Amino acid sequence: MAIKLEIIQNQEKLYNRGAEIIANALKNGAETFGLATGGTMLPLYERLRNSDLDFSHCQSINLDEYVGIPKEHHESYHSYMKRQLFNKKPFKVTYIPNGEAIDIQQEANNYEELLKSLTVSLQVVGVGENGHIGFNEPGTPFNSETHVVELAESTREANARFFNSIEEVPKKAITMGISTILRAECILLIAIGEKKRFAMEALLKGEITEEIPVTSILQHPNVIVLTDLNVGE
Ligand code: F6R
Repeated sequence: MAIKLEIIQNQEKLYNRGAEIIANALKNGAETFGLATGGTMLPLYERLRNSDLDFSHCQSINLDEYVGIPKEHHESYHSYMKRQLFNKKPFKVTYIPNGEAIDIQQEANNYEELLKSLTVSLQVVGVGENGHIGFNEPGTPFNSETHVVELAESTREANARFFNSIEEVPKKAITMGISTILRAECILLIAIGEKKRFAMEALLKGEITEEIPVTSILQHPNVIVLTDLNVGE
């Protein structure tokens, strides 16, 4: 298996290790970072914000963005990234899909074209309770490129904690596809907490299935998984 599994039960240490992996990538010349959002990434970005790392010569490209809320909305991924990272650690260029585009399908196509012109050195990903990566919900073909998705009800429920009510959670998003994500040179997956056990156990079982999108990364030659779950021991 091309996965390097690191089980670190102490979350402080786990996130220190995550920040170290990013620092090492930077030191080794990485210039394009694929970034993720969500609760999992908050302590990681806190560490990057408080570090002496300099990303000002780098570019970042995010996995996904909601459709149907303005960029200025507190929970848009544009706002999240500014708050959690970019205001404190500016990059030369940052890319996030435009969920406000009039033609969101065209926006997804343009984002894919952009991604094809770049080489993502390190792609950071979280995982959904149902095994989604980016917003690629179960059943998404592994050859998918950047596309518009209907969010699964379970994903909207999981993300409702960031909004005033579930009604406010957008129903659609633009996300890198599975094949888009797999083009990165290296993938760093972080999975924290019991809610991620199903996805992590499926991953470590080793069976590759479109029903559990995270298992697609088993096809990738260079993956690091950081988890606090005692899986695969
Ligand atoms: C976020 C993303 C999602 C999250 C996943 C886990 O950009 O693409 O796949 O990584 O939904 O979310 P949290 O970290 O909130 O459990």
